[in-house]
Amino acid sequence: MPETFFDQFTKRAPLSLADELMDKVIPVKHNQAFSKLVGFGDLMAAAQKLLRPADKSRLNLGEGLGIRPPLKWAGGKRWLVPHLKPIWDKHKERRLVEPFSGGLAVALGLLPGDALLSDINPHAINFYRWLKRGLTNKLAMQNDEDFYYQCRTRFNELIKADKATTREAAELFYYLNRTGYNGLCRFNKGGEFNVPFGRYKSINYELYTSEFKSYKAIFANWQFVVGDFEAVDVRPGDFLYADPPYDVEFTQYAKEVFAWEDQVRLAEWLAKHPGPVVLSNQATKRIVALYKKLGFKTRLLDAPRRISCTGDRTRAVEVLATRGV
Ligand SMILES: C[S@@+](CC[C@H](N)C(=O)[O-])C[C@H]1O[C@@H](n2cnc3c(N)ncnc32)[C@H](O)[C@@H]1O
Repeated sequence: MPETFFDQFTKRAPLSLADELMDKVIPVKHNQAFSKLVGFGDLMAAAQKLLRPADKSRLNLGEGLGIRPPLKWAGGKRWLVPHLKPIWDKHKERRLVEPFSGGLAVALGLLPGDALLSDINPHAINFYRWLKRGLTNKLAMQNDEDFYYQCRTRFNELIKADKATTREAAELFYYLNRTGYNGLCRFNKGGEFNVPFGRYKSINYELYTSEFKSYKAIFANWQFVVGDFEAVDVRPGDFLYADPPYDVEFTQYAKEVFAWEDQVRLAEWLAKHPGPVVLSNQATKRIVALYKKLGFKTRLLDAPRRISCTGDRTRAVEVLATRGV
């Protein structure tokens, strides 16, 4: 049976967007217009035109959460996009610089024309670089425990052999991210990736990996860099959004723990930037005081998670610290 337009569409567009559009647009009357579309940008533009304002806000199309990120990422800030968007809109001609780009939820939410995205995690950045080059999946991914541990061993062999920037490493990293426990990215003291098998009931690898090509066009003018935030080559006119690991004990994303000294080092580094700056963090007393002291405006937001380690169900509070916006 020939592939229908809807099949092609689902393959081309990131999943959540495809679902939302199919739901809303297809039963209406505009499918003709969609069948002529070739690129993802066109698709977004057409969707914007076709949907009524009320639908647009319901679907958050382009004005809300943007494009779904390709990786699962601890501390992803997709939920913050609606708060960041009004700030960003005043500066959207600028380059977006994210020294803690992580899972890319913010860049994919704001969709800047020009961006410098940096993170200390070399594997995520390697994966994005491969997506930018047009990565298509060749690994026969299986949601199977033995297969997972074989892939994990192979991934660690590549790291040891200094081959962590290869295409094979990028594909394995993606597979481990989708299949491992909670999409975590943890390494032991010896530098080996040690996240256990995730035990998900099912994982639709085919659907996810068919989305890879959507990112190629989006990433075309974005630069991906690995390193500590202080090494990021920021220009005076850049819009800087920093989302460091939360100010809590035992936070560990990549190899390094982000200590209080790093939080202070970051705040002082951000305070030196002459252009607009936005910082998000857990609203601990010392973080709020630190940024206020450095002349930032602070706003507290309810985060969609709860602190439960002490058994209570206190709502977590996020702080947005801004300067020059
Ligand atoms: C809260 S996450 C960022 C999440 C991202 N905003 C998103 O929405 O997906 C924090 C990130 O900081 C990175 N990181 C930790 N220490 C770092 C450092 N010293 N310099 C740069 N990045 C660092 C981690 O690898 C992690 O991806």
